[in-house]
Amino acid sequence: MSDPRPVGAVDGPVVARTRAELRTARARLTGGDVAVVMTMGALHEGHATLIETARRKAAHVVVTIFLNPLQFGPREDLSRYPRTFDSDMEICRKAGVDVVFAPTPDVIYQDGDPGVRISAGPLGNVLEGQARPGHFDGMLTVVAKLFHLTGADSAYFGQKDAQQLLLIRRMVRDLDFPVDVVSVPTVRESDGLAMSSRNTYLTDSDREVALCLSRALEAGAAAAAEGPSAIRRAARSVLVREPLALVDYLVLVHPYTLEDVPEWYRGEALLAVAGRVGTTRLIDNLPVLVGPGGRALEVFSDVDTATPAVPATPSVTGRPDGD
Ligand code: PAJ
Repeated sequence: MSDPRPVGAVDGPVVARTRAELRTARARLTGGDVAVVMTMGALHEGHATLIETARRKAAHVVVTIFLNPLQFGPREDLSRYPRTFDSDMEICRKAGVDVVFAPTPDVIYQDGDPGVRISAGPLGNVLEGQARPGHFDGMLTVVAKLFHLTGADSAYFGQKDAQQLLLIRRMVRDLDFPVDVVSVPTVRESDGLAMSSRNTYLTDSDREVALCLSRALEAGAAAAAEGPSAIRRAARSVLVREPLALVDYLVLVHPYTLEDVPEWYRGEALLAVAGRVGTTRLIDNLPVLVGPGGRALEVFSDVDTATPAVPATPSVTGRPDGD
């Protein structure tokens, strides 16, 4: 006779390590939709917020914990990436997760390095993609596999990784994945630092330096009513005062094309920054409304639908004739 209790509800999440275990646990998630929250472990409040948001909206929640080698470059931090499985499980248990899928690389990549991969296309070559060649192909490949393996109806991703979120939305749309992608606003420490598993690498003094990233974004957003160059100037003026932050890029770009917005642009834009502090590469961003009523936004307004309209070409508003 089958066990009538909801999976995970009483004794904490069921842990699946293999494809067969995931299939069994997944088959028991009946009578409602299934949401997935994908992670690389080292869970913090940002992840917890994703899980809690999914928990509120979906009948069942599957969390994946998989440190995906395919999305790390040869000189990146795969080997030192924090591994905190016990506390990750505690967070999942408190949040009422049904199933935790925590496979090893040989479970995900059964035949070793996959010869066939998802290509992120042009949007995967700019910003983070320029700094981390191949990163987004590796990320999308595992996200596609985890969509298939979990059979989720919806998936929750953080605005913190804005380019990742955009590329996942594009993949879902371009390749017709039957999944609703939901974005969750960036969760920050009380002083503004965006939460990240990589923050554990920061020394106390690094952490002070790292604050310039979120402060630059806030300064930029405070100038949002004045237009693109004022936003960029305000943000840059914070960064130049912190020489210990080695800034890789500070950009104000269109949310769908990631192209720099021109000076006449009015509407939603992404203010994004990346840089190295000590030995750690950090990223942060703020969606902003540029122009009258300009301000910081939590997430972009028209992307939280099941099938967001992602224009193939820049959709800019407020362009005066002849400009
Ligand atoms: P990871 O860095 O562990 O992040 C997992 C999810 O948590 C992502 O959707 C990320 O955007 C979100 N997240 C991280 N920090 C956040 C914060 N401060 N506020 C809100 N959300 C936050 O991103 C990955 O893993 C991987 O690339 C993955 C998608 C799992 C594929 O391997």
